[in-house]
Amino acid sequence: MLLLNSYAKLNLYLEVLELRKDSYHNLKTLFERIDLADKIILKPREDKKIKIICNSADVPCDNTNLAYRSAKLLQDRFNIHRGVDIKIIKRIPVGAGLGGGSSNAATALLGLNILWRLELKQAQLLNLARAVGSDVGFFIYNCPFAWGSGRGDRIKPLKSLNNLRLWHILVAPKIKVSTPFIYKEWDKYFKGKKTRLTSIKYNAKMLNLTGRDLFNRLEIITAKLYPQVRQVKDKLRDMGVKSILMSGSGPAVFGIVSSRKEAVSLKAQLKADSNSWQVFAVKTV
Ligand code: C5P
Repeated sequence: MLLLNSYAKLNLYLEVLELRKDSYHNLKTLFERIDLADKIILKPREDKKIKIICNSADVPCDNTNLAYRSAKLLQDRFNIHRGVDIKIIKRIPVGAGLGGGSSNAATALLGLNILWRLELKQAQLLNLARAVGSDVGFFIYNCPFAWGSGRGDRIKPLKSLNNLRLWHILVAPKIKVSTPFIYKEWDKYFKGKKTRLTSIKYNAKMLNLTGRDLFNRLEIITAKLYPQVRQVKDKLRDMGVKSILMSGSGPAVFGIVSSRKEAVSLKAQLKADSNSWQVFAVKTV
């Protein structure tokens, strides 16, 4: 049996460049891994079945589950005759832009590589990750910050930020947002218009002190369709948070704060204010 943490991500920067022929979008993004995590328990089975067990009704337990797809891909590619029970204890909000499903898929790949003694190298795991989803590759790397390009699946770890630990207040309105839907809306909104890379020069100091370089091209789209995004942003700004951004295709919104104390204090105030939001104090991991 294996017990693993499956971490969430934030996007500190996300520029959508263009629609591709395969109907994905080329983008440039800066990923951050955070300590908000699901637990994944892998238990070997006597038969060949892959069974997903999850405590959240928001997670599908059939063959559309991304962790299921990871396990099935490994079985098919490497002719594995063993099965597995994959228990997912969900803490990461689903459909929030925090990469929970992708992270579960990567954790399943990494864990089954051990459980089934496949001895796959990182490059092979990355290729498999790509086949499961655009964001899965980031979670294969054991790194806190990385650039993503292509459809988000080409990863370059940012070694210069390896020792940086940021604290965040993270708010996820209790609604689910469909990523394909948001990209389709982006297609309509930016039709014919070219987006250019906004200036991106990151160093640890800047990230800590200013939100100037925080950027997410999808925020304007999601916020138009889901007013909760703006409500959360306004609330955080009213509370004095300066660097605020939506993550991925949303609707989760985070702020960069200066300490654990500040994050925990904001969380306590926000929890008292609204029960239509899930609130977390999180840090880079
Ligand atoms: O790769 P993944 O399954 O996570 O992507 C979900 C959907 O999000 C895709 O089917 C596509 O509609 C959209 N997407 C996109 N461009 C990306 C990533 C995702 O259009 N770079």
